[in-house]
Parts: sequence; structure tokens; C-alpha cells
Amino acid sequence: MPRIIAISNRKGGTGKTTVAVNLAAELAALGARVLLVDLDSQGHCAAGLGVKIGQDAPTAHDLFLDPEASLTAAICQTGCANLALAPADQRFEHGSGARDERRLAQALAREKITSAYDLVLLDTPPSLDHLLLNALTAAHWVLVPYVPHQLSLEGMRQLMRVLFKVMSSSNPQLKILGLLPTMATDHIRQHRLVSEEVARQFGASRVLAGIRNDIRLAEAFGVGKPIRSYAPKCRGAQDFARLAATLAPILDTPVT
Ligand SMILES: Nc1ncnc2c1ncn2[C@@H]1O[C@H](COP(=O)(O)OP(=O)(O)O)[C@@H](O)[C@H]1O
Ligand SMILES: [Mg+2]
Repeated sequence: MPRIIAISNRKGGTGKTTVAVNLAAELAALGARVLLVDLDSQGHCAAGLGVKIGQDAPTAHDLFLDPEASLTAAICQTGCANLALAPADQRFEHGSGARDERRLAQALAREKITSAYDLVLLDTPPSLDHLLLNALTAAHWVLVPYVPHQLSLEGMRQLMRVLFKVMSSSNPQLKILGLLPTMATDHIRQHRLVSEEVARQFGASRVLAGIRNDIRLAEAFGVGKPIRSYAPKCRGAQDFARLAATLAPILDTPVT
């Protein structure tokens, strides 16, 4: 059974997709067989990995539109060894489709997925819709990237409410893998203060060493490469390598 990690925050622009693509690439480079599933119809995971998706190619969103659809049909290889992608449908309208919260969990439990992957990363939309609920219902862990400014606290409180609801109903095994500061700049006083406040409110042990602000991460995305291939020595690459090294032993823990 692969370990499943949802990367979520109720706010947009907190680095979810950047974390999903680069953490997936780092974990794949460490030897895990990784499947990245893009549930955000912006479809940025494919762009970030330089994968071209044909107009009528199957996508992860087909699951929510067609009861017969299979996730395996949507999976394509990426330029990185060990890393596969189930891309998003850019035409999918969030809020549309079947409401079944277990649809993704069921699709991921199919033998073709369970035998082929060690880890599944789910990139999620910020909206509180059935796609986010599907991701949180399917996941063993949730990783929460946040930008350490004042408005993030409210977004995180909102996400925590959703998490506790899911934990007490459809997915009691869901755990918080960590709260991950992104685009962080140590010398900005507000970033430090917000990070201290996040630690106080949500527990210091949950706060991971962050991903610093690094324009190279945005550039890498623009050319469709993970940072580890685009600029392996830059700050962003160092931070993602450290994040993967921190999480890999936790993710190896058997969860079933
Ligand atoms: N650590 C970082 N340093 C600099 N820019 C970043 C960093 N993380 C993300 N970005 C940029 O911020 C923007 C939003 O990031 P993205 O990953 O798309 O967020 P989300 O998926 O949460 O909407 C993108 O332009 C991305 O390139
Ligand atoms: Mg995104």
C-alpha cells in the first residue's frame, strides 16, 4: 500500500504546487516510486515537470466525471526516473462532478496503483470542494505549505477545521505530516513573528524547516524542470533536498 500525502492549504499561492513537484522529484531521486496526482484544474504540475498533455488525454479529474474512469489510464511518465504524473484537466470546473468523497481513495486502492508506487503525492486546489475532501479522505498525511505572513494564520485555522472534520468522519487515520514555511525570508521580522505564532498555535514540533524564498524555484517551474535538475546548488534545491531527507524516514513507516 503506498503512503499517500495531500499537500494542502485553503489559501492559493502558498507554494503547494512548487512543493508537490519538487518534493516528488526529490523523493523519486532517493529511490521511492512516486506518483504525483494533480487535483487542481490549473494543471500546473504538468507544466512544472515539462509534461505535455494532449487535448483529449485522460486526466485525474475524469474520476469525478465518469464512474467508469480509471486513474491508471491518466498516468504518464515524466522526465524524472521513478516519477509518474496523473495530470489535471484544465477544463474541469471545481464544484462540478460526483460528490462521493471516497472516489479517489477507491481509485488509489486498485492493485495497479498499490503494486506500482511507494508514495502518492496529491496536489490540491485551495477551494473547499469535494476534490479537497477526496484528497484528505484518501491521505495518510497532510503537508501544509504556508507563507509566513499575517493572513496565513486564518487560512491555516480554516484548513485545521476541515482536517478535524475529516479526521472525525471519513478518515480517522489522517495525520499532519508538518507545517512547511515557504518563500520564507529570515531577516523579515514579520516572517519570524508569524512562524513563532504558528508554532505557538499549532505546536512547534509540527513546524518543519522551511523552503526559503528563491527566484530559481519560479524559473525552474517556467522551464518545466524540478529544481534539483535546473539549479541543483541553489538555496531552493538545498531546502527541498533537506525536506525530502527529513520526511523520507517518516514516510517509510508502514501505515497499514
Ligand atoms: N520558495 C519559493 N521562492 C520563490 N518563489 C516561490 C517559492 N515557492 C513558490 N514560489 C512561486 O510562488 C508562486 C505560487 O506558488 P505555487 O506553488 O503555484 O502556489 P500554490 O500551488 O499554492 O498556488 C509561483 O509563481 C511560484 O513559482
Ligand atoms: Mg497550485
